Amino acid sequence: MSDASMTRSGLTLAAIAAVCTTLVALTFQLTDERIDANRQAWLEQSLQPVLAGVSFDSGIIDSQLTFPSPNALPGAGDAIIYRVYSAGAPAAALFVVSAREGYSGPIKLLVGVDADGAVTGVHVLEHRETPGLGDQVETGKSDWATQFRGRSLGDPVSAGWAVRRDGGEFDQLTGATITPRAIVKAVRETLEYYAENRILVFGVSGDPAPPDEVSR
Ligand SMILES: Cc1cc2nc3c(=O)[nH]c(=O)nc-3n(C[C@H](O)[C@H](O)[C@H](O)COP(=O)(O)O)c2cc1C
Repeated sequence: MSDASMTRSGLTLAAIAAVCTTLVALTFQLTDERIDANRQAWLEQSLQPVLAGVSFDSGIIDSQLTFPSPNALPGAGDAIIYRVYSAGAPAAALFVVSAREGYSGPIKLLVGVDADGAVTGVHVLEHRETPGLGDQVETGKSDWATQFRGRSLGDPVSAGWAVRRDGGEFDQLTGATITPRAIVKAVRETLEYYAENRILVFGVSGDPAPPDEVSR
């Protein structure tokens, strides 16, 4: 092969490689955007169970705060909080936390708290509890989780924040007390955290909390 034809082949290969690289990059960008949009839609959807009855006019996703571990919220890892506002005033905070003492490990929960500290809803996001026993805490499997709606630290007062088996006001499940006990405790701890950190959660005038304590 002559030098000229080798150069031509080299240039052709380089051009093909450049076109392929561009196509892959474009496909990646388009797919990435779609994955991102799907993820956001899924997230908005999964937050709905704790937003029933909350009137708000702000976006949800942009309001995300991450409270890095260690923090005083239930669970061992980072805690995520979404805030919604109505006419600029805090309407509700949605906490993604973890009940540590589930029967088969941590139970990931979404706990909605309105600006006055009342529960707007509790929704189990992830768990490994036993089918037919602990898994009845799932929204689709029983209405067990609805009993938290409207409850606050004053309703019931402190000793009432336990399952009936422990002298409290919340129902356990037949043959499964450990799972409900763990969740009641995590919801109570979330309310306690909110009561002590309302300004940190919503920030002053709706601004995020100081960056050294909270990362977006
Ligand atoms: C195989 C097996 C799986 C269980 N899974 C759960 C569970 O997911 N959640 C739970 O609270 N209790 C579960 N239990 C029952 C607990 O061991 C415990 O007996 C129960 O929570 C106590 O509730 P009770 O006082 O109402 O019986 C399970 C028990 C067995 C034998």
